Amino acid sequence: MRIAMGVSGTGSILKSMLAKGVPLTLVLADGECKALDIARQAGVPILLINRRFYGFPRQGWNRRAFSSDLARALNERQIDLHAMAGFMTILDPGYFQQFLGQTLNIHPALLPKFPGATAVADSLAAGETITGSTIHIATEVLDDATYIVEQWPTVPVYRDDTVDSLHERIKIEERERYPAVLFKILSGAIDLAQIKRA
Ligand code: GRF
Repeated sequence: MRIAMGVSGTGSILKSMLAKGVPLTLVLADGECKALDIARQAGVPILLINRRFYGFPRQGWNRRAFSSDLARALNERQIDLHAMAGFMTILDPGYFQQFLGQTLNIHPALLPKFPGATAVADSLAAGETITGSTIHIATEVLDDATYIVEQWPTVPVYRDDTVDSLHERIKIEERERYPAVLFKILSGAIDLAQIKRA
């Protein structure tokens, strides 16, 4: 199985994937970021499709062309699974016509609660006492909770938490559990097609 990991940020989950030996065919980014440097240092092939060249973030940003170029690149490289870890571009429905069931995302909240880019801040503001993360099959709906692969409500929220302290505690678990999920997919213990049918 050929796995691509989609990144935009610091790449601490990517780093953990590599340390644990998850076989990655490609690291894909939507802009220059620390995660790309981690991939370069590890010698993993990288692909940078810079969304700034598609007009992001100005009005008229061409999400459709970005998404279709991304899908084409994954097809050319015969990628079976695109595992997003902090990939911050919302992909166009055209992408999902091709890659539904083959794209995973990890979200730092207990979906369907708190979708979106400010999930940790929103959990904190809502006064949650327990939070965690969700690994789900991504669809054209942002942070869609329809097809949950794994979710763990295991991270306590402390009274003096900041967004950063809470997010870091969430990520400690993500760095363990996301690679474990990919190993389960590789071994057949998790069948994404079956989750998608259910
Ligand atoms: C993780 O918290 C993930 O849930 C979210 O983005 C973060 C990525 O962290 N989607 P990093 O870039 O791997 O450090």
